[in-house]
Amino acid sequence: MSEQAKTVRIGLAGLGTVGGGVFQNLIQNKELLHGRLGITLDVTAIAVRNPDRDRGFPVDRQLFVNDWKDLVADPEIDIIIELIGGTTEAKDLVLAALRSGKSVVTGNKALLAEHGAEIFKVVEETGQAIHYEAAVAGGIPIIKTLLESLVGNHIVSAYGIINGTCNYILTRMATADLSYGEALKEAMDKGYAEADPTLDINGMDAAHKAVIIASLAYGSWLPSDSMHVEGIEAVELIDMQFASKLGYSIKLLSVIKGHDDGSIEVRTQPSLIPLDHILASVHGVFNAIAVHGDIVGETLFYGSGAGQNPTSSSVISDLADAAMAIAGSKPRSSFVPHGIYGKPVAIEDTTSRYYLRLEAEARPGVLAQIAGLLADHQIGIISVLQPDEGQGQDPQTAQLILTLHEARYGDAVAARDAIAQLSCILDKPALFRIETLDPQ
Ligand code: HSE
Repeated sequence: MSEQAKTVRIGLAGLGTVGGGVFQNLIQNKELLHGRLGITLDVTAIAVRNPDRDRGFPVDRQLFVNDWKDLVADPEIDIIIELIGGTTEAKDLVLAALRSGKSVVTGNKALLAEHGAEIFKVVEETGQAIHYEAAVAGGIPIIKTLLESLVGNHIVSAYGIINGTCNYILTRMATADLSYGEALKEAMDKGYAEADPTLDINGMDAAHKAVIIASLAYGSWLPSDSMHVEGIEAVELIDMQFASKLGYSIKLLSVIKGHDDGSIEVRTQPSLIPLDHILASVHGVFNAIAVHGDIVGETLFYGSGAGQNPTSSSVISDLADAAMAIAGSKPRSSFVPHGIYGKPVAIEDTTSRYYLRLEAEARPGVLAQIAGLLADHQIGIISVLQPDEGQGQDPQTAQLILTLHEARYGDAVAARDAIAQLSCILDKPALFRIETLDPQ
C-alpha cells in the first residue's frame, strides 16, 4: 500500500475486453467504491502489447508499460490483475507476482484448472492472496458463495450451465429450429462466441470452470485432464425436437458431485434435463449454477456468464477484497453508509404498468367514460379485454380487463378511485401493478 493514506495501487496486465471494462468501471464507480471501502483503488500502470491501439475510451498513455515484468518489479504496486489469458505467460506472471509479495486477481479459468495445484502451493508458501471470481461464470458470484456464504455446508452437488456460447446455440436450436451450424454462425455474428469458438463448443471452457467449482467445493485441486468432457457438436436439431416431445431440454450441463466414499464426480456433457426444472429456463447466453448444500438445501445462482461489464464486476469484487486485506481494514461491516443514496421515493411517484379489472354496466358509452378518466390522469390504455359472458352471468354486467401504460402510482390510484365513482361501475375496481422486471 502506498504511503498516501488508504490508496491501493494496482497494476493491470491486459487492457482487452475485460481489462478495458475494469479500467473504465473503476473510474465510473470510484466514488461508490471509496465510500464503501474507505480505500482508493488506483490503477497506476497497465501492461499492454500494443500501446498504439485505439481502445475506444480515454486512457493516459503514461500508464502504459510494455512488459508485465515491469508491473511485478514496481515496488509501489500492491495488486496485479492478470487479464492476458493463456496458460504460459500468465502462469509466469501470476507466480512472479505472488513471489514478489503482491496480491493477484485473475479471471483465467484455464490457468487455474490446469495449474491450480502449483499456483496454490505458491500462494501458501508466499502467504499472498489470489482471487479469481471472474474465472467462473462471469458476473455470477459463485466463488465467493462457495468460499463464504456456504462455508457451513458440505456441497452435495452442483449442476451448472456455465458456457454462454453453448447455451445460446442450444437455445436457438430449441426455440427457432435452427441447425447446429446455423445457431453457431448466429452466435458468432452476434459476437457471443469467441473468434475461435473451439474451447466453447468442445466443452473445455465449461470443464475448466467445473474443475474450479469442484476443487473449491471438495477441497482438493483436481487435475483438469481427469475430467470427462464432451462438447455440443453432436447435438442435432432432431435431438432437440425429440427431447422436447419427451418433456426435456438439452443443455451443456456440468455435473459436480461428492460421493460418500470420498470420490468426486465431475463431468461436462450435453444432457437432457426436465423442462419443469428451473435450469431448463436458463436461455441464451445466461449461465446458472444450482448448488445443493447439506444444510442450506437447494440454491440457484443465475446471471451473465460472460461479457465486459459482468466479468469486470467480479474482478472489482476481488480487487476490493485484496485491497481491504492490504489496507489492514477491518472486515467489511454488515452495513456501510456511503452517502450517495438516501432519499426514499414516495410510493405515489413510483411508476409501472397496471392491470385494472372493472365490473361495469353492459351498455354503450361505458368504455368511453373509463378511457376519459384515464386520459384525465395521463394514463394510456395498452389493451382492453371483455371476456364473453359466462354461463349464468348477468347479461347487464360486463367484466372489463384493461392493461395500462407506465404511469405514476399516484395517478393510477387516483384514476381507479375516480372510475370507482362512475355510476356505471358496479363493484370495487381491482388495480394491480404489472412489473416487466426490466433491470432499469
Ligand atoms: N466464452 C465463454 C462463454 C465465456 O461463452 O461462456 C468466457 O468463459
